[in-house]
Amino acid sequence: MLLRRWIATGVAAVATLGALNTLPATAGHQPNPADQSLRTLGMRHDLFIGTAVDMAALNDPADPQYRQLTASQFSTVTAENVMKWESLEPTRGVYNWGPADELIAFAKQNNQRVRGHVLVWHNQLPGWLTSGVADGSISTAELRDILKNHITNVVKHFKGKIWQWDVVNEAVSDPWDTPSTLHYKGFWAQHLGPDYVADAFRWARAADPKALLFYNDYNIEAFGSGDPANDKTQFVYDMAKQLLAAGVPIDGVGSQGHLGTQYGNFDTLQVAAALKKFADLGLATAFTEVDVRSQITEAMENGDSNEINPRLQASAANYSVLLQACLADRHCLSFTVWGFTDKYSWVPNWFGSEGLANIYDENYQPKRAYNLMKGDLIYSGAPYVLPRIPQRPRR
Ligand code: XIL
Repeated sequence: MLLRRWIATGVAAVATLGALNTLPATAGHQPNPADQSLRTLGMRHDLFIGTAVDMAALNDPADPQYRQLTASQFSTVTAENVMKWESLEPTRGVYNWGPADELIAFAKQNNQRVRGHVLVWHNQLPGWLTSGVADGSISTAELRDILKNHITNVVKHFKGKIWQWDVVNEAVSDPWDTPSTLHYKGFWAQHLGPDYVADAFRWARAADPKALLFYNDYNIEAFGSGDPANDKTQFVYDMAKQLLAAGVPIDGVGSQGHLGTQYGNFDTLQVAAALKKFADLGLATAFTEVDVRSQITEAMENGDSNEINPRLQASAANYSVLLQACLADRHCLSFTVWGFTDKYSWVPNWFGSEGLANIYDENYQPKRAYNLMKGDLIYSGAPYVLPRIPQRPRR
């Protein structure tokens, strides 16, 4: 609680200073770029700025600010949960399109593009599916048909309304998994083998010829050793290259961008180099789920600025690294944050004692990360930052 108040006070002081700061006469009638939204500033580069949307928050009449900021600051939206399999088909054969359709309608109303998330993932699967496979009542052959039907039904339902689909999510293991040699992990690889990846892209393309089809994963912001046995970025790069060589209709690779300030992370040059390598394969890229969390200590709970400030600054710097790298590559089409306010972040639920991951605090005050993002969008341009090159869906 103290921590919340401490941050809010700091931001109020900054806002007062800003108000006292008068524009020089030479600024004429130019609008102050700092007063413009992220989405408006992103359009200087044809870059779409997005957020994941929590439908409960969007529909909460007691919290109009969430809806207002979702509409005003962002030019693309992603369903945080309501397009996942357990939400769309909680009972076998009975689809629940309502919440996802609502998000699509909201996006249309606010002139926003939609990232579809997600068609194939090992998490948030409905119980009927996982228990059916576990008890043997769903055979491997039937499972493949079920997956094909799911992709076909979902992509057809949203046909023409989705800009980018996350077709396959998080298919690759991490070096800390067992075995430590990188491999295809999770429910789908276990039951269908790695070929499900290519199948999924083909089925998605058959259902919507125009959506951009993405592979999406975390810990692929930069290349490491270059050995696909332990460098996840390299593993994903090799996978994408093989898919392309086999004529699989993959259009892009999404880098989730879930970072933590306690880790080494990367600098702009490393991230830009990785985006360029993917672009050189003929793929679009995107940052799809950016947030930068920190460990919350007891001292922070008691308002200790020695511990709070370095974390807020490090979080902001990491947002900036990813955004600058994206700006620097003309094939990086969108930059989506995984929720914009600490009020509804998945981080404390998922990582326990971590938080402060988003660009607004719990009271909707913009944090340093927000302002750094704005600065990057404002103070960049030719010759190194140029408008995006649109991606054509591959057949
Ligand atoms: C998370 C959501 O934010 C949570 O609300 C949910 O409980 C679990 O999933 N990678 C992804 C996202 O691709 O779908 C995850 O979203 C975060 C990690």
